[in-house]
Amino acid sequence: MELQISISRKPSERQHERQHESNIQVGRDDVHKGCLILVNQENPVRQLEPNLGALSSRIRQASHVEEQRITLEKICIQQLSALLEACQAEDDIAAVSGYRSREAQARIFAASLEENGAAFTARYVAIPGASEHQTGLAVDVGLYRGDIDYIRPSFPDDGASGRFKALAAEYGFIQRYQESKEGKTGIACEPWHYRYVGYPHSMLMKQQDLCLEEYTAYIKQFAFNNKHLYVEGRSAFAQIYYVKAEEHITTVPIVSGDRYQLSGNNQDGFVVTVFHRKGDGSCE
Ligand code: DAL
Ligand code: ZN
Repeated sequence: MELQISISRKPSERQHERQHESNIQVGRDDVHKGCLILVNQENPVRQLEPNLGALSSRIRQASHVEEQRITLEKICIQQLSALLEACQAEDDIAAVSGYRSREAQARIFAASLEENGAAFTARYVAIPGASEHQTGLAVDVGLYRGDIDYIRPSFPDDGASGRFKALAAEYGFIQRYQESKEGKTGIACEPWHYRYVGYPHSMLMKQQDLCLEEYTAYIKQFAFNNKHLYVEGRSAFAQIYYVKAEEHITTVPIVSGDRYQLSGNNQDGFVVTVFHRKGDGSCE
């Protein structure tokens, strides 16, 4: 489904509407946490404590010496499971790689250098410290079969993997590395690498063809005191705005709504997403 996107002043500044605000205080380290953190060579992983869980038994797992038991951020497991169920692909698609420690990423990088050479490794393996896998928010998926390539699992555009690709954004996932964005991401096309960013950000990125580097920059124009970004889905509106981080403690205004999510961008600020049920009058 296409989201309706609109950009307007926050409701409290519109005539005829009232909207309450509260504040929360966050520390500078919080910039490096949350499902929208941008991780690449220029923005390495700074978050140290992902909230990891083991995959449920409903998700097939490929086995590799580095990941005997795949783990991911808990929200990522929940949404991956729902996505696999929605596209009826639980028997056909396996998780191949999830959370990797920095040390594991260093071993994988070194092994690839040895086996595949420098040019291949630069295209397909992030340097240690700069891999999204270190956040627990990235998962490599591959067609389930006897012999699955750990670095480049097969994930074609048709069949079960095609259904997964088509539905992924509805469940908060983006195909992180697209061919057309290689110059911005620094990584070659990886049809198997999905990153959880959360809904509706995943849908916005897909609809507007923005990679996470571009989306992180795009969101900054929607500062709290400026216009906000509104997206309308089936049953809810989301109101999105950006708050720049202060040096130590940042007071983040939260407009009233049904619920909200806060994420750092791993650079310089926070993205607030406030969900409003349709028909509550607060942001129509
Ligand atoms: N394959 C991706 C780029 C990683 O190593 O994180
Ligand atoms: Zn990956």
